[in-house]
Amino acid sequence: MNKKPVVLSVFGTRPDAIKMAPLVKTIEKSDDFISKVCVTAQHRQMLDQVLKIFSINPDYDLDIMKDRQTLGRVTKTALEGLEDVLGKLKPDIVLVHGDTTTAFVASLAAFYAKIPVGHVEAGLRTYDKYFPFPEEMNRKLAGCIADLHFAPTVTNYNNLVKEGVNPESIYITGNTVIDALKVLVSKDYNFENDLLNNFDFTLKRVIAVTAHRRENLGKPLENICLALKEIVQKYPDVEIIYPVHLNPPVQETVRKILGNVPKVHLLDPIQVRDMHNLMSRSYLVLTDSGGLQEEAPSLGIPVLVLRNETERPEAVKAGTVKVAGTDTQKIVKETELLLNDKAEYRRMAHSVNPYGDGHASERILQAIRHWFGIIDKKPQPFGV
Ligand code: UD1
Ligand code: UDP
Repeated sequence: MNKKPVVLSVFGTRPDAIKMAPLVKTIEKSDDFISKVCVTAQHRQMLDQVLKIFSINPDYDLDIMKDRQTLGRVTKTALEGLEDVLGKLKPDIVLVHGDTTTAFVASLAAFYAKIPVGHVEAGLRTYDKYFPFPEEMNRKLAGCIADLHFAPTVTNYNNLVKEGVNPESIYITGNTVIDALKVLVSKDYNFENDLLNNFDFTLKRVIAVTAHRRENLGKPLENICLALKEIVQKYPDVEIIYPVHLNPPVQETVRKILGNVPKVHLLDPIQVRDMHNLMSRSYLVLTDSGGLQEEAPSLGIPVLVLRNETERPEAVKAGTVKVAGTDTQKIVKETELLLNDKAEYRRMAHSVNPYGDGHASERILQAIRHWFGIIDKKPQPFGV
């Protein structure tokens, strides 16, 4: 009997871990492949929270994170570590996810080792080199190297085709984040975090917030925090719950401006199940995160995006997400509209699923089977 192909999934930060976890679990269960996992640990604590929830024990852990690491250092240490792992394991395919530096470097390392690459969450674009930074370029570079492209949506597929990618190598799969969401959200969920567990979500209107992006560090993040302060002070029934990313410049700005503001609850990063259930019980989400922009629409919770542009236009088109930018008064105005105008709130607060139906991992597994010639037909594309 022929040896089963070895599939190596590589990730390293919180979001790529959350989005690769359902796929790793799906590949593990399949009889056709041997599943291996390598984490760069570009994030340490925030990655470990995800590994624990999904019970994933990586086969390789490069443990590269350093406090206040630079992009160059992440790139260099991950590349060297991955070169070793690929040399030892010699996988038949490497799977990378999205737009992190881990994703770009893992595809580069696989290319140097002449190992095929499957790019999960391929084809998202702003076409602005510096927004999001460095993610737009990371995603494009990973895409240049990839042999298989798992585009979540038709829009993402079209972007790739426009750029000259062979349509035969693209599979429209949905986003695996919706697979994770479907498993983790439940009505009777008990939070691990004490504050969340004791919080009365029926008496208060909760705004769930995350903001951490590199391009928002400094003035834009200060503007965001000032907007949050103004909102919470103006509306007695509004409380803000903000799990703060561990990046030191983020911690410093957020705690300086919001540390002592009543009704603003600053938490350490919470585990993903708490996060998903927090969103599902919130009135509104304000965020600069990519993942939250995909998750909240599926839960029927309106989102204001704290950035000037988004590579995820689908939910904006569906009317549940609005790009609010990083100007203090613009954020306050858009938030107040949703706090005061019930009709406007209802218009935005409907559940839509432009990013996935919870079956993206199965489609990606089928796509890999197809690529290895195990099955003849491509899986049915998502949303077509
Ligand atoms: C990275 C990704 C970004 C993603 C974000 C998700 C890149 C270039 N950026 O950005 O696309 O949106 O993760 O969160 O790949 N830190 C800790 N503990 C942790 C995690 C981070 O202390 O568990 C601190 C460290 O001081 C680290 C800093 O955060 O130096 C920044 O981490 P890094 O991965 O370099 O960048 P992010 O801004 O997190
Ligand atoms: N998330 C989490 N705990 C938190 C904040 C976010 O589990 O305290 C989850 C969130 O639900 C989403 C993912 O982390 O699935 C998004 O990651 P992040 O904001 O770090 O990255 P981005 O989406 O901006 O790339």
